[in-house]
Amino acid sequence: MPRPKLFTLQSRLLAYFIATCSCLALWMSLTPHHLAYAAEVPTAPDYDPLNRPTLHELTNGELPHIEDANLEGAESGGYAPDFAYLDRSLIGRQAAEVDQLANNEKMEKDIDPGQTLHFVFKEKQLRLRRAVAVPSEALEAPGTDNASGNAEYGGLVQAESDGSTHDEEAGSELRKRQEGSRVWLTANTCRQPMPNENLSTLSKNHPQLVMHVSTSPKNQKPGPDSTKDTLTNITGILFDSGYASFELNATSDVYIGIAAPELEEDWFGSWHFELAASVDGPYHNYNDSDPFLLMIDTDSESALFITYNLSESNKTEEVDKWREQNPFNMYAFAAGDSTPITGMEHSYCALQEQFNANTTKNFTIATSITTKFSVNDFPKTQFHVQGLDAAKTYNGFVVVQGSQEPVEIPRVGTVRGGGRVFQAFNWTTKADDSCQVLFDLDFCDSVAYAVPSNKRYKFNDTALAELYDNQARDYYNNFTKSLAQVACDTTSQAQYSLARTCADCEKDYKNWLCLVLIPRCENYAADDDWLQPRNINMPFPNGTLPFDNNVTAAFNETYRNRFAYSQSRNPLIDDVIQPGPYKEMKPCEDLCFDIVRSCPAQLGFACPNFPGKDGAYGRREAPDTLTCSFPGAVVKLNVVSGARALGRRIGMVVLGAVVVVVGVWF
Ligand SMILES: *[C@@H]1O[C@H](CO)[C@@H](O)[C@H](O)[C@H]1NC(C)=O
Ligand SMILES: *[C@@H]1O[C@H](CO)[C@@H](O)[C@H](O)[C@H]1NC(C)=O
Ligand SMILES: *[C@@H]1O[C@H](CO)[C@@H](O)[C@H](O)[C@H]1NC(C)=O
Ligand SMILES: *[C@@H]1O[C@H](CO)[C@@H](O)[C@H](O)[C@H]1NC(C)=O
Ligand SMILES: *[C@@H]1O[C@H](CO)[C@@H](O)[C@H](O)[C@H]1NC(C)=O
Ligand SMILES: *[C@@H]1O[C@H](CO)[C@@H](O)[C@H](O)[C@H]1NC(C)=O
Ligand SMILES: *[C@@H]1O[C@H](CO)[C@@H](O)[C@H](O)[C@H]1NC(C)=O
Ligand SMILES: *[C@@H]1O[C@H](CO)[C@@H](O)[C@H](O)[C@H]1NC(C)=O
Ligand SMILES: *[C@@H]1O[C@H](CO)[C@@H](O)[C@H](O)[C@H]1NC(C)=O
Ligand SMILES: *[C@@H]1O[C@H](CO)[C@@H](O)[C@H](O)[C@H]1NC(C)=O
Ligand SMILES: *[C@@H]1O[C@H](CO)[C@@H](O)[C@H](O)[C@H]1NC(C)=O
Ligand SMILES: *[C@@H]1O[C@H](CO)[C@@H](O)[C@H](O)[C@H]1NC(C)=O
Repeated sequence: MPRPKLFTLQSRLLAYFIATCSCLALWMSLTPHHLAYAAEVPTAPDYDPLNRPTLHELTNGELPHIEDANLEGAESGGYAPDFAYLDRSLIGRQAAEVDQLANNEKMEKDIDPGQTLHFVFKEKQLRLRRAVAVPSEALEAPGTDNASGNAEYGGLVQAESDGSTHDEEAGSELRKRQEGSRVWLTANTCRQPMPNENLSTLSKNHPQLVMHVSTSPKNQKPGPDSTKDTLTNITGILFDSGYASFELNATSDVYIGIAAPELEEDWFGSWHFELAASVDGPYHNYNDSDPFLLMIDTDSESALFITYNLSESNKTEEVDKWREQNPFNMYAFAAGDSTPITGMEHSYCALQEQFNANTTKNFTIATSITTKFSVNDFPKTQFHVQGLDAAKTYNGFVVVQGSQEPVEIPRVGTVRGGGRVFQAFNWTTKADDSCQVLFDLDFCDSVAYAVPSNKRYKFNDTALAELYDNQARDYYNNFTKSLAQVACDTTSQAQYSLARTCADCEKDYKNWLCLVLIPRCENYAADDDWLQPRNINMPFPNGTLPFDNNVTAAFNETYRNRFAYSQSRNPLIDDVIQPGPYKEMKPCEDLCFDIVRSCPAQLGFACPNFPGKDGAYGRREAPDTLTCSFPGAVVKLNVVSGARALGRRIGMVVLGAVVVVVGVWF
């Protein structure tokens, strides 16, 4: 009879095993230090996180490094061993219906039309606020031999993993201890239903998800059919272009319902979304106030942008840090009634997914860190978009990648795991190839705007830049020879001026020279008053002339035959580059005043008087409008324009609605 034998053997073995375990348990409870060691090495086979409370009672605070948040977690889970299995099976069953959110961790879900998904953010998670910073530090430096840090990390994992072993007693105790925690609930739509080909639906808005929130135990499944006792009223929170956020002060479990509307005819598909709860700040973020970006200029196939300062330090290490890990990205889509991103413009995951999914798009966005466009050489992100179509409007978005370790950025604030999306902006490329954006010139390093060009150079910035740069360098070399003949570098008494030095003169001359030799260019169709038509007797690339010959003699005399209109200010442009008719934004007159003031009188600099001056220089007229060219001029995006600039320029494909001056570098 082998069977009963085996059975006896088994029961003996079992008895022996139980006895051994009890002995082991007794021994372990008497040697707390051994256990403490086990806690530091969570992989040890005899490590049982559920014994923690016992450990705490026995050691009575002897082990300072496992206090703090862990012990709070352990305390409330005091009877965990008894209920552990029951609880686990409960979680298993509930998972299908109510998902538990963990602090600062997103949950991704698919949702079908008409469906409502339920989530709970347990009261226990409200207390993870401070604990979270510690393990992330420990994770950052896993090699450092910081025993207490590691122990805390192990402890936190335990606190999170038995997050369900929460009982009423501990909860009410805590409620007394704590007045309530701020909770941020945020969500992003990553994918959404699409309309059929049917054009009539395109004007309709994309259907959005809805968030319902309740803290009442009476309504643990808030949704469109269960709006009683919710904090979000009967309508809930409608996602705004794929983004929803809700803040509350919670003292108990927070119940969340995400509801999808039924689809109207002509729409098909489902949604995919991310939901996150955090007690530290919004996990996902959308900033409606600002695009965090300035445009330097655009031409018929490219555009150049810079962000604001990423840091308020110009130290090499700081700049290198951004170079190594730059969380900023720009995404763009051709504007239209129905773009891949329409309806999800405020969602980080949607922008990223839709931009990366389109492998057929022709344009590329090169991202780099530059210190050039800042007064103090502070780092900024530069985006160079290339391969665009002419005379086309694009929607752009700056985003900051999320990271588990919150990133602090000046003028941005804290960016958490879900990243941040800034206000969308749009820009329109120029229609003609007569202007081309140049930047990063070797000598004229202050030039960063569209300059007169020709189709020949459209895809060869280097060739065009060299033409202009070499010419400027030649002029400058001759100038320094002249300057050398003036008593510049002598003692201050012998200097030509106490206030200005030769270094000032050189700097001001270079600024002026580069901006005069390399004019800022607009298409001929641009019609702002302050733009000077140039080359008007030359044909456009398509062979037509700006004017036919049926014009009056007066027109010829005051306009057509005058050099200010019939030529470029730099002969190189007409002779070599041959851009055809274009308009120039003249250099600001102060650039001329500056060299007259800074340079020795012997050099004989003088600025032209009226009327010559008007053909040569522009004036900084409106405080907010770029009316003349100066180094470091940038275009502010999304500016609500004044009456003047509206209307007339629609379809003119200049620089968007309004051009605003915001900064100067040097
Ligand atoms: C160890 O970690 C703790 C908590 O994270 C920290 O306060 C302490 O400064 C660390 N000690 C060392 C030597 O890194
Ligand atoms: C709920 O409705 C009330 C009154 O209609 C309003 O004051 C409150 O702001 C609403 N709350 C939310 C979260 O929409
Ligand atoms: C949450 O509590 C803070 C103070 O702790 C208070 O300023 C805020 O108004 C409260 N918010 C809500 C929605 O009750
Ligand atoms: C990809 O991008 C191009 C150019 O922006 C656009 O015309 C096209 O519709 C996009 N394709 C998809 C599938 O989104
Ligand atoms: C991309 O460029 C090619 C060739 O320049 C052109 O034929 C095609 O239409 C472009 N595609 C898009 C989506 O603009
Ligand atoms: C670096 O920044 C400081 C101010 O923070 C400024 O005084 C200094 O001139 C800057 N250095 C350069 C090279 O711009
Ligand atoms: C750009 O132009 C230069 C000078 O004309 C030429 O040597 C170079 O090959 C061109 N590069 C490209 C990519 O066409
Ligand atoms: C610089 O000076 C030399 C000699 O006087 C002259 O031949 C040359 O044309 C000058 N270059 C420019 C750009 O003025
Ligand atoms: C030729 O090009 C110019 C500038 O782009 C444009 O204004 C004009 O209408 C064009 N003419 C024809 C006949 O296409
Ligand atoms: C020339 O212009 C005048 C007035 O603009 C117009 O009356 C006349 O018909 C035009 N002549 C021709 C030949 O186009
Ligand atoms: C104006 O100039 C054009 C081009 O030089 C010429 O063809 C035309 O006859 C001139 N008109 C008058 C009235 O002089
Ligand atoms: C560009 O943005 C402005 C507002 O910033 C908006 O009024 C305009 O309609 C947009 N243009 C396009 C083509 O999307």
